[in-house]
Amino acid sequence: MGLLLESCTPVKYVTGEIKSDGIFIDTKDFLTKENSYRSYIVVRNKILQYPICVYRTDNNTYNALYLKCSHQGAELQVSDNQLTCPAHGSEFDKLGHVTKGPAAQSLREFPVVIENEQLFIDLKKKG
Ligand code: FES
Repeated sequence: MGLLLESCTPVKYVTGEIKSDGIFIDTKDFLTKENSYRSYIVVRNKILQYPICVYRTDNNTYNALYLKCSHQGAELQVSDNQLTCPAHGSEFDKLGHVTKGPAAQSLREFPVVIENEQLFIDLKKKG
């Protein structure tokens, strides 16, 4: 098998594992076949009304953002550096801050705790 599609890494979706009012995901999910790191993965799970995007800034920094637009609740589209709302064009950075309106509020962020090789996304606490 050759190494194809190096420059076009598809979005990685995971379901994670529900435990203790949160979701565990594996840090290895961020690794590509070429052993580089994805800048984000998207968690979809039936207990979530909207997906969660987890951005990886470095080994110890992850931001988990709820993909619900703070304007009128449309599901956001994810890219390497920003989140875009298809409904009215709002944009958010990797920290969930508004970079373009009409949205005026940051996205909901969940605390992320790193435990061994796993990330725990705490769904109980509001960020
Ligand atoms: S619902 Fe996202 S900009 Fe209006």
